[in-house]
Amino acid sequence: MKQLVRNVKIIGTGSYTPETVYTNKFLESIISTNDFWIQENLGIKERRIAAENEATSDLAAKAGINAIENSGLSRNDIDLIIIATATPDRLAPSTAAIVQDKIEAYNAVAFDVSAVCSGFLYGMSVASQFIASGVYDNVLVIGADTFSKITDWKRRDAVFFGDGAGAAVFSSGNVNEGFLAFRLYTDGRGKWNYTIPAGGSEMPATKETIEKGLHFFQMNGRAVYNTGTQVLPKAINQVLDDTGLNIDEIDYLIPHQPSIRILQKTAETIGLPWERVMTNMDKYANTSGGTIPILLDEVNKSGKLKKGNIVLFAAVGSGWTYGASIIKWT
Ligand SMILES: CC(C)(COP(=O)(O)OP(=O)(O)OC[C@H]1O[C@@H](n2cnc3c(N)ncnc32)[C@H](O)[C@@H]1OP(=O)(O)O)[C@@H](O)C(=O)NCCC(=O)NCCS
Repeated sequence: MKQLVRNVKIIGTGSYTPETVYTNKFLESIISTNDFWIQENLGIKERRIAAENEATSDLAAKAGINAIENSGLSRNDIDLIIIATATPDRLAPSTAAIVQDKIEAYNAVAFDVSAVCSGFLYGMSVASQFIASGVYDNVLVIGADTFSKITDWKRRDAVFFGDGAGAAVFSSGNVNEGFLAFRLYTDGRGKWNYTIPAGGSEMPATKETIEKGLHFFQMNGRAVYNTGTQVLPKAINQVLDDTGLNIDEIDYLIPHQPSIRILQKTAETIGLPWERVMTNMDKYANTSGGTIPILLDEVNKSGKLKKGNIVLFAAVGSGWTYGASIIKWT
């Protein structure tokens, strides 16, 4: 056992999004929706869609390899792989086991975390505990989802999601760098507001569940908006309190990408200027577990992040699950 309670930092990022693009205009041709409404309310112009033979693990493996390369480590250095996904390849084994094999990182223990749109935030918190306690040195966390596979392409809520994966490598850091705070929350009373009713032990898949489309996601959009705009500020204010930081000291917010309206309202409530809120939902829509790490990779590789920058992460998702964290970038 190594030294206890070590600081934890991010040493590499990566991402992968599939090639096929569904624009809003294309969706107009298959469902009753319109480009203007989607852009105004959700901030989305287009989204990426996985190929028929492309599973969540394929996206995850590509993002993971990309992050390992960016970190300067080799696949054999990875001690633990955590996959945050709500669209696993199969119910068993875990998508993490499949990804471990695809990237040939056989020294790593691998498991999934299930927190839907908050999955990457939960995953990075778990990674940090293992590193802080000295159990593992290098952890690969991947957020990956293919919601196109659980979307009813005949319904107009097909506009919300896209497919994609992002990843980051976590390692131990020096004092006064890396993660400063984490807060995670769960409220299971929200369990019907975003759900995939069939295919699990409660309602196993049958001919009837398939005919009724119960293997597709169902979402109460208004409840998501109302909850998101309340709990994101709550979680963010809590991590600010925990660290003693003021909102003015936050250089960037790298949030989950539910909708532009939810993020605008959140920024207004916490008093953060909009220029400091990073978004990319215009290109990718909501990739669920993929949103934060894809955006982090984009911001990191654009050269925006400077040593010492204070970066805030925040997410809300099905469950309800939500939370926030703060990192001092190195
Ligand atoms: C989606 C959202 C904008 C809908 O707003 P709402 O007022 O609750 O929705 P309503 O069903 O009452 O519809 C309001 C209007 O939008 C229109 N609308 C709703 N969905 C639409 C769609 N996909 N395409 C085009 N128009 C749509 C309705 O027709 C209605 O128009 P009308 O006033 O002319 O009748 C809002 O609920 C929201 O932002 N939710 C968050 C969703 C989210 O972030 N999900 C992803 C994270 S899990």
